[in-house]
Amino acid sequence: MRYSTHLLLAGALSALAGSPVLAQGDAARGQQWASQGDGSGAPCLACHGANGEGNDAGGFPRLAGLDADYLTKQMLDYRSGARVSPIMQPNVDSFSEAQIRDLAAYYAGLPSRSVTVTGTVSDELLALGETLANNGNWDSYIPPCATCHGPGNRGVGDSFPALAGQSPNYLSQQLKAWQSGQRHNDPNQLMAAVATRLSDQQIEAVAAYLGRLNASDDGEVKP
Ligand code: HEC
Ligand code: HEC
Repeated sequence: MRYSTHLLLAGALSALAGSPVLAQGDAARGQQWASQGDGSGAPCLACHGANGEGNDAGGFPRLAGLDADYLTKQMLDYRSGARVSPIMQPNVDSFSEAQIRDLAAYYAGLPSRSVTVTGTVSDELLALGETLANNGNWDSYIPPCATCHGPGNRGVGDSFPALAGQSPNYLSQQLKAWQSGQRHNDPNQLMAAVATRLSDQQIEAVAAYLGRLNASDDGEVKP
């Protein structure tokens, strides 16, 4: 439903602008590429889970329900090296852009589901994370994550990915990668500016909180 609305909208916009419709991937073909990989290593589901739900212990992000254009950009960035990951680059570097769009369409079309988080953290840490996510910390010039990542931090459009229900280990690794400069593929350094202001404790707190949110419903912290 959302997919066809998107297509209609894209069609209407392109008719107005007289430009071609943005290429959309084919989810059925994407499922096939996901189950076989690009031939150079393990299939996607070995790390990202049978339903794209991710694996927190391994730090493998959930892909299910993320925006198709966001996923496409990230895979193209791994392929070109604009996003540095020795683990991910070999998984996509033999795919064509059309195959990458197919994979993105497949994962974007799966129901959003939170990664399984094991272990408990203190209520104080979760409360600190909730404050950062929804109110920021203006003493340190940290804006609320939700101003860009949307209500409930469930993502907005193709630029601001969902953080709710994402693997806490993955979230904190990415924030640290921006701090060290290893990840630098964000438009206008929007994320680098935020990540470099976070302390280690704030990273742990916000990642723990966000990872425990429901990816698809009212955004309550799970019991
Ligand atoms: C060996 C494990 C492994 C396999 C196999 C694998 N991935 Fe990944 N994937 C990772 C890791 C680790 C990361 C995070 C890397 C980083 O730090 O940027 C990741 C990140 C990603 C991201 C970025 C997600 C985001 O939220 O930005 C996408 C998209 C992705 N993988 C897609 C795929 C697809 C599609 C396949 C199969 C063709 C695949 N991966 C196979 C381990 C794997
Ligand atoms: C000014 C806007 C902005 C704010 C505020 C912001 N972000 Fe982001 N964030 C972005 C953009 C843009 C991206 C996508 C970067 C890309 O395209 O690679 C992103 C991506 C991310 C990612 C990578 C997700 C993935 O799937 O790989 C994480 C983690 C993240 N943000 C965490 C946070 C946290 C935590 C906060 C609050 C403390 C926050 N962001 C606040 C703009 C913002």
